Amino acid sequence: MDVSQFSLKGKVALVVGGAGDIGKAIAETYSIAGADVVISSRKQENLDKAAAEITAKSKGKVLGIAGHLGKLDTIKALVEAIMKECGRIDIVVNSSGSSFMVPLVDVEEWQWDNVMNVNVKGPFFLCQQIAPIMKKQGGGSIINITSYMGVRTEETLGVYCISKAAVMHMTRVMAKEWGKWNIRVNSIAPAWVHSRLSDPFLQMPGVNDRMLAQTAIGRFGQPDDVAAIALYLASDAAKNQTAGLFPLDYGMLI
Ligand SMILES: NC(=O)c1ccc[n+]([C@@H]2O[C@H](COP(=O)([O-])OP(=O)(O)OC[C@H]3O[C@@H](n4cnc5c(N)ncnc54)[C@H](OP(=O)(O)O)[C@@H]3O)[C@@H](O)[C@H]2O)c1
Repeated sequence: MDVSQFSLKGKVALVVGGAGDIGKAIAETYSIAGADVVISSRKQENLDKAAAEITAKSKGKVLGIAGHLGKLDTIKALVEAIMKECGRIDIVVNSSGSSFMVPLVDVEEWQWDNVMNVNVKGPFFLCQQIAPIMKKQGGGSIINITSYMGVRTEETLGVYCISKAAVMHMTRVMAKEWGKWNIRVNSIAPAWVHSRLSDPFLQMPGVNDRMLAQTAIGRFGQPDDVAAIALYLASDAAKNQTAGLFPLDYGMLI
């Protein structure tokens, strides 16, 4: 096969949650593969730091634009700013995430709203705003980072599980509706990946061992493992791949 298909030269990629551990690994991989990259999350200083670290390795164009991506107004402003700066959007990765550890009976409305806004509403409206742009350009690739918890359940993380299941089906619905515009929509469902989001949970007494016992290979991965799948899905090597759910589950879903 022609491995140059994995090049992202000439493409513009938006990675939401791009200052986070998984998002940054994806943004860095895309930048090294030749894309111009925009990263977004709430705090400008985190974005500036991440952008500087990425450009130190790739020398590509990396732009950080801050905003709360659970709000439609912010999403519209972000899309406008990218079009002004970069002129096109070829790849979108939804990697922002929020969760609370609360049993279902104790979940408060604001917690439900926070998780659903960041994990489901934001990605939905972002894709909705960008799909017409991709249609005009002749296609694009959307990648939603969901979780193995969209399939399995984990006590105290119930609302997160529900939100990630919604993202899995949102991916399929978008793939079906926008396939006619050559927009490919896929999701990646990692199990535990060492990051700021997951490590505090894994470090709770007994949790790491209990989780590892459910894997086939006895270890969890790193953000770069997710980035490898995200590179494939963003690239022309995946030109015929849509509506897929790509687990990085170490055998946990067997
Ligand atoms: N790590 C794992 O084990 C694991 C497993 C399965 C799935 N995932 C999923 O992978 C994705 C990335 O997780 P991660 O481990 O890289 O976590 P992370 O390091 O905490 O990254 C999450 C990112 O989301 C951003 N964010 C949070 N709320 C936001 C908002 N309202 N608007 C815009 N950005 C917002 C955060 O930045 P700010 O706080 O600066 O806004 C941060 O950049 C998430 O969707 C997560 O659910 C992670």
